[in-house]
Amino acid sequence: MRKGYFITLEGPDGAGKTTQLQRLLTFAQQYGFETVNTREPGGTPVGDAVRGILLDPQYGEMIPLTEALLYAASRAQLVHEVIGPALDAGKVVICDRFIDSSLAYQAYGGELDFDFVLRTNVAAINGYMPDQTFILDLNPKEGLARRDASLADRMEQKSLAFHQRVREGFLALATRFPERIIVIAANRPVEDVFASIWENVGPALTALR
Ligand code: TMP
Repeated sequence: MRKGYFITLEGPDGAGKTTQLQRLLTFAQQYGFETVNTREPGGTPVGDAVRGILLDPQYGEMIPLTEALLYAASRAQLVHEVIGPALDAGKVVICDRFIDSSLAYQAYGGELDFDFVLRTNVAAINGYMPDQTFILDLNPKEGLARRDASLADRMEQKSLAFHQRVREGFLALATRFPERIIVIAANRPVEDVFASIWENVGPALTALR
C-alpha cells in the first residue's frame, strides 16, 4: 500500500532541475523523511542500458515511436524496482523527469498521438502517478545556451522548433492536470526558484508527518 510522497521535477535541459532536486532532498531529510532520489531515463541496470541507447547521438535515425516505447520501458522497470517499493515503504521519492517528459517530448515534440503516449505510460507506471510535479519553465534557447553544445546528447541535438513544442507541451500539461502540476519560472536565482517549490510542497510534507 502506498504511504509515501512522490515528487517529480520536469522541464528542459539546462533549467536547473538537478540543483533543485538536491535542495529538495536536503530539506525533506531535515524534516525527518527517508528519501529516494532517482532519475529518468535510467535509475536501474536495465534503465541505464536503455538510457545509453536513447541518448547516444549515433542512433540519430530513431523514430519518435521507438523513443516513446524505450522511455516507457525504462520507466516500467524503475517503478517496479525503485519507486513503487519506496512509496509503499513510506519514503519521499524525488525523481528527475517522469511521465510528463514523455508527454512533452514524444507527444508534443515528436508529434505522436497524445492518448497513445498517455495510455502506454499509464500502463508503465502501474498506478504510481506523482503526487506533485514541478515544471521548471525556461525558454528553450536559454536552456540550450546553458549547456555545452559539443556535449549535446541525441535529444539535445533536435531542432529548436522541437524544443519549442516541448515547452508548449509542458505548459499544456499544467493546464490539463492542474491538481498535480505547478509551473515555476526557472529564469530566476536558484534560491527564488527553490522558495517557489518549497512553498508548494512544504505543507504537503508537513501534513504527512
Ligand atoms: P537528462 O538526463 O539530461 O534530463 O536527459 C534525458 C533526455 O531525455 C532529455 O533531453 C529529455 C529526454 N526525455 C524524453 O524525451 N522523454 C522522457 O520520457 C524522458 C524521461 C526524457
